[in-house]
Amino acid sequence: MGAFPDAETRPFRPIYPKQATAPVMAQTIHILNGPNLNLLGTREPEIYGSETLDDLHARCERKAKALGYGVVFRQSNHEGELVSWVQEARERAAGLIVNAGAFTHTSVALLDALLSCSVPIVEVHLSNIFRREPFRHRSYVSKAAKGVICGFGGLGYELAIEALATSLAEAKAG
Ligand code: DQA
Repeated sequence: MGAFPDAETRPFRPIYPKQATAPVMAQTIHILNGPNLNLLGTREPEIYGSETLDDLHARCERKAKALGYGVVFRQSNHEGELVSWVQEARERAAGLIVNAGAFTHTSVALLDALLSCSVPIVEVHLSNIFRREPFRHRSYVSKAAKGVICGFGGLGYELAIEALATSLAEAKAG
């Protein structure tokens, strides 16, 4: 005889207390950062400020959490990796924030990946790209973005999260 003599005859044998409702998975906003943004804090601080990428990540986590969203925050120096992450966001994200760094001004591949997404996209730049060299004035990302925020440093990421959360709430309300 085992430790539970009536185990075989019990109509229902819970292993652990059942949850009243299924756990709610937080919806996630994917935030993708392109080349050289891993150097934030030390790279041209007069343009990009003193905040590091980790600081930015923490800032985004805080803001998103306050609005009920989780965050996937990534950086890559490789165009193909960013394209793959956009394709992943296409399947999994509630919304997408992209600072493609220099790929902003060069990458048709990234644009094509972004155009394949039906989730809202916000393009962000720390610096005001329109006050800088003419080659930074053209963005391939903008065509796929719902909106663009640039020139506000790290605050721009928070503004982008807020814009996405508001757009998503409006879309849900119909
Ligand atoms: C940037 C602006 C781009 O022109 C530049 O190549 C970057 C950063 C920004 O955040 O201001 O790497 O995207």
